[in-house]
Amino acid sequence: MAEPFAIPRSVEWNDTHITILNQQKLPLVTEYLQLKDIKDVWEAIATLKVRGAPAIGITAAYGLALAAQRYETESLETFKEHVRKDRDYLASSRPTAVNLFWALDRLVSSIAHAFSVNEAKTTLIHEAIRIQIEDEDICRRIGEHALSLFQNGDRILTICNAGSIATARYGTALAPFYLAKEKGIHLHVYASETRPVLQGARLTTWELMQAGIDVTLITDNMAAQTIKAKNITAVIVGADRIAANGDTANKIGTFGLALLAKAFGIPFYVAAPLSTIDLATKTGEDIPIEERNPEEVTHIGGTRIAPEGVNVYNPAFDVTPHHLITAIITEKGIIRGNYETELPALFAKGEHHEAI
Ligand code: MRU
Repeated sequence: MAEPFAIPRSVEWNDTHITILNQQKLPLVTEYLQLKDIKDVWEAIATLKVRGAPAIGITAAYGLALAAQRYETESLETFKEHVRKDRDYLASSRPTAVNLFWALDRLVSSIAHAFSVNEAKTTLIHEAIRIQIEDEDICRRIGEHALSLFQNGDRILTICNAGSIATARYGTALAPFYLAKEKGIHLHVYASETRPVLQGARLTTWELMQAGIDVTLITDNMAAQTIKAKNITAVIVGADRIAANGDTANKIGTFGLALLAKAFGIPFYVAAPLSTIDLATKTGEDIPIEERNPEEVTHIGGTRIAPEGVNVYNPAFDVTPHHLITAIITEKGIIRGNYETELPALFAKGEHHEAI
């Protein structure tokens, strides 16, 4: 069936390699890269060629499956040892998004009862493909739930890119905008540019414009003025890890938007799949926050904008405390406020498409 409008995809399994959309170069260059071995996959994740929590998980899963096809042993135990070693290697590519560890561990578990090396090799590929297929369905469900919170004509602020290219398809925070477009509901997106590496300016605007969704770009320091002057009705963001008490790590700048939403009395929504919820992490204090290369701050698009030798602090994420989050929107429905009991209850709900 022909798609009514374009929703870009960022990761594809091609048997001998993985194809990814190079998100480092967008929107100036649309380039697809072939990742041919596990080192390519590690590098693509670490350097943000592929980024966004679910897309990182999907790519890492394919990376582990790809690596495993080349192990030459006949011994299942030796094969599993190689898988565990490569799992740890890929897990070292980025520390904050829990989807990375979730996807890798799901692959490792999938071969627990394999009878042969050949069977295990096939199982790893199938499990990685399943993760990607499920994620598309999950994102659509998140979008349906999120859309129930919005009305025709709403003006909604977002940060970073929690869109189609950060997931299998549709995105999390951006999913309701694609579904609104399908249903003829008009929502206007305000995209915060997201310094230092500009996922909002480069990626969110690019993918929404391709789908013909109204989007207006602002710089990060324009958020308060925009909420006031443009009558923003809600803020919606994605997540890299949600702790058991609802504290949420997402792209740096998210915490500031949550404080602004509270000050202006507008809802602040987090949209994320269950694979981003980490009940083993008790609070936001326990979430590891990635600090990245100072050059991301001292340079824009490869050009130095700060003096040589300046001290730089470059945290890639911040943690929004749960009391600032109006609701968390998942594929199983919307939870509000009492996250400590509601989050575990989501997991107890059985198969993923059951609505709460
Ligand atoms: O550093 P990035 O670009 O990987 O950060 C991405 C984000 O913070 C996203 O909001 C989050 O991963 C959710 S993507 C659906």
